[in-house]
Amino acid sequence: MITIVVGTNRNNSVSRQIANYYQSIFLEKGVDTNIVDLVDLPHDFTGTALYENNGSNEIFNAMRNKVHAANKLLFIVPEYNGSFPGVLKTFIDGLKYPEGVRDKKAALVGISSGVQGGVFAMSHLTDIFNYLGMHVFALKPKLAAIERNFIDGKITNTLYNQLINTQIDKFIEF
Ligand SMILES: Cc1cc2nc3c(=O)[nH]c(=O)nc-3n(C[C@H](O)[C@H](O)[C@H](O)COP(=O)(O)O)c2cc1C
Repeated sequence: MITIVVGTNRNNSVSRQIANYYQSIFLEKGVDTNIVDLVDLPHDFTGTALYENNGSNEIFNAMRNKVHAANKLLFIVPEYNGSFPGVLKTFIDGLKYPEGVRDKKAALVGISSGVQGGVFAMSHLTDIFNYLGMHVFALKPKLAAIERNFIDGKITNTLYNQLINTQIDKFIEF
């Protein structure tokens, strides 16, 4: 099972729509996925699911268990302030340590309003995942200027679609 993680807890995020788009392409290729959307995090999770409270928030546990159970994860990574969203790091901090994502395989896709397409966001996240022992797939599409290239739930940019399809095909084999 491949789990797609929406890397922000913002309501009605573009990241969630991109996750749905990826899920539909995986399905066309005969691969089932599930989605963990950080918008579903309990609002008090920093005070109820971390550190000495680790493991004691059932809603948080259900979300992190989907990460622990997956052998492959695809992260939708929006660019926030030149990096990935802080809530994603906080979610990672609430996973089991050190074994939470060790030996799993990850694919990343970056999205941004501006021109960078989350390049630094994905670089920062790759450092963390590699530190934790997760293998990060090398092809990481950078979907810049997302508002101009994602219309009515579909990527309209030919190059972006080629990159996404290649990433998905090769990640299935990875
Ligand atoms: C808190 C915040 C910070 C952001 N920082 C950047 C940024 O540094 N560079 C950029 O190009 N876009 C930035 N954006 C825009 C997002 O990258 C853009 O909306 C993204 O494509 C999708 O974010 P979403 O999943 O929250 O909708 C920011 C958005 C938010 C909410």
